[in-house]
Amino acid sequence: EERQPLKIMIYGAPASGKGTQCELITNKYNLVHIAAGDLLRSEIAAGTDNGKLAKEFMDKGQLVPDKIVVMMVKERLMQPDSQQYGWLLDGYPRSLSQATALKEFGFEPDIFILLEVPEEILVERVVGRRMDPVTGRIYHLKYSPPETEEIAARLTQRFDDTKEKVVLRLHTHHQNAEAVLTLYKDITVKLLKNVQVNSI
Ligand code: AP5
Repeated sequence: EERQPLKIMIYGAPASGKGTQCELITNKYNLVHIAAGDLLRSEIAAGTDNGKLAKEFMDKGQLVPDKIVVMMVKERLMQPDSQQYGWLLDGYPRSLSQATALKEFGFEPDIFILLEVPEEILVERVVGRRMDPVTGRIYHLKYSPPETEEIAARLTQRFDDTKEKVVLRLHTHHQNAEAVLTLYKDITVKLLKNVQVNSI
């Protein structure tokens, strides 16, 4: 009998460590990592109309409209690799309407991972975060520093990773969190802030 591929959602405040945990989980379980924020940043990088519109909302720390995000995520979930290997969905759903839309398309998770990290830690994680444009890896200047000088020299920072912007992103998160969490409470697994990088 063939096993069904695993389907996981991961949820948490901005910079709570979703991307970091996803890297560890996908290495272990070979799932397809689908990050809504990454999909949006690729649209921005490609200069598409959706990308241009999305950037306006991301600059304000607000949710990008459903008409862009829902189809984008749905199409990625429908790809053969996601269907075959299973998926790890990161940064979606962020609202009741996004959750409902996905359910209507027949996508339901087996597990909902919730990252719980106190707010004062989030700000520190945001401002210290750096990305490696070559490998896509996430670093932190203090908690997960680059391995070599060469990597250190090429690290970049996200346009929305400032102290001012994270306050706006957090506000949006708080507006929607309860509605989303209620939906998945029966399949929720909580990970607390003391989960260290590389410890899962
Ligand atoms: P998105 O890209 O999803 O950003 P986010 O939710 O704010 O989350 P982050 O990517 O900032 O953080 P993370 O939780 O992945 O943390 P990370 O592992 O990097 O979304 C950006 C924007 O796009 C949104 O504001 C919105 O506008 C739009 N958007 C996205 N999805 C949308 C949707 N569904 N609908 C509408 N709009 C949408 O870790 C952070 C830092 O901490 C790193 O430096 C890391 O090294 C460090 N760190 C991680 N874990 C630990 C640890 N245990 N100890 C110490 N340091 C740690």
